[in-house]
Amino acid sequence: MQQLRRNRRLRSNEAIRSLVREHTITPHDFLVPLFVVEGKGIKEEIASMPGYYRYSLDLLTNEVKELWSMGLKSVLLFVKVPDDLKDNKGTEAINPDGLMQKAIKTVKEAAPGILVMTDVALDPYSSYGHDGIVDKGYIINDETCKVLAEMSLSHAQAGADFVAPSDMMDGRILAIRELLEKENFKQTGIMSYSAKYASAFYGPFRDALDSAPGFGDKKTYQMDFSNQDEAIKETLMDIDEGADIVMVKPGLCYLDIVRDIRDAVDVPVAVYQVSGEYAMVKAAAEKGWLDHDSVMLEQIMAFKRAGAHIIASYFAKDVIRILD
Ligand code: PBG
Repeated sequence: MQQLRRNRRLRSNEAIRSLVREHTITPHDFLVPLFVVEGKGIKEEIASMPGYYRYSLDLLTNEVKELWSMGLKSVLLFVKVPDDLKDNKGTEAINPDGLMQKAIKTVKEAAPGILVMTDVALDPYSSYGHDGIVDKGYIINDETCKVLAEMSLSHAQAGADFVAPSDMMDGRILAIRELLEKENFKQTGIMSYSAKYASAFYGPFRDALDSAPGFGDKKTYQMDFSNQDEAIKETLMDIDEGADIVMVKPGLCYLDIVRDIRDAVDVPVAVYQVSGEYAMVKAAAEKGWLDHDSVMLEQIMAFKRAGAHIIASYFAKDVIRILD
């Protein structure tokens, strides 16, 4: 038979390629993680995350205004807590005048239309560097859920739009949802890190917040990376308990999970391209071994193809700059 179908017709120039392109990247895709520290006039680069910074509240304002002007309208807040405020109960996590609570207000003042999400887990506040309360070397579940619920309420009271529990305790979404409802924060959303794997890709983040576990690892609560079906179980349970958005984390190694979950649920799916993924691209580019911008875009597009509605990424600003 004579060849009638020639796929290359649709690739012959950029005009036709853009006409038939299946996925595009816009500022609306991104959730921008922000690291906040105590102090004044601080913008310090994170050693293992070149080009990414911790900000004190005064300089956070400028950063947020810049994000807003670039069309980046959603942020995810993390705080670095001084050692002397850490304990085994999350006392500082529920301090109404704590750094997170102040950061929420600062961001809202800088850009009132911005969507503020907050990380909910005890690790930055924990003297053990674990996501929950430790008892005899074990991270105790139900007591931790209670604190996480109080922490979420405190963030909601400070003005957070969404809380994002990243701890992987059982039943924390229900505990948080019930307390928010009871206290009349019915509009406060929950983005659950529902399929969060115990991953070595979080290393640079733990440098950023000085939150590495003091003993052991996080394998008794975060998922085993050998598992696939379990991600669906975790995610469906979180949705039943009241999660509005679900998340897969890390990103690139878990694109299969993103697609599985996208096909299994009817809520928006987020993916977190984590600190180690960012660091790898930066390091390879610094050595001149990979082209930074091309590799970055290829990876972001992979998340879209896999089915993510929302991408939490340290590359958000870099991507928007080159799209402009
Ligand atoms: C805290 C938390 C972590 C990350 C987000 N929230 C670290 C961890 O679980 O150890 C990792 C983010 C990243 O690596 O970019 N529970």
